[in-house]
Amino acid sequence: MYVCVCKAVTDSQLDAAIESGLCSRKQLFQCFGVGGDCGKCNRDIVRILNQKNACRLLQAANDAQLTPKSQEN
Ligand code: FES
Repeated sequence: MYVCVCKAVTDSQLDAAIESGLCSRKQLFQCFGVGGDCGKCNRDIVRILNQKNACRLLQAANDAQLTPKSQEN
């Protein structure tokens, strides 16, 4: 599904870029140009970044065998 229609960038492309290490809206803009034209995709880009970064933090916590505060008790 297209996230940024202006630059024809899909959610799969953004997911792959984030998984390969891009971690900010600025970096995604520099890589794909997303968000720089009409700006309508910026909210979705932030949502995708937040979801992916939350998953990374949870995975890091699991890898370190730590329990996130929200899952204690
Ligand atoms: S939809 Fe992304 S800049 Fe227009």
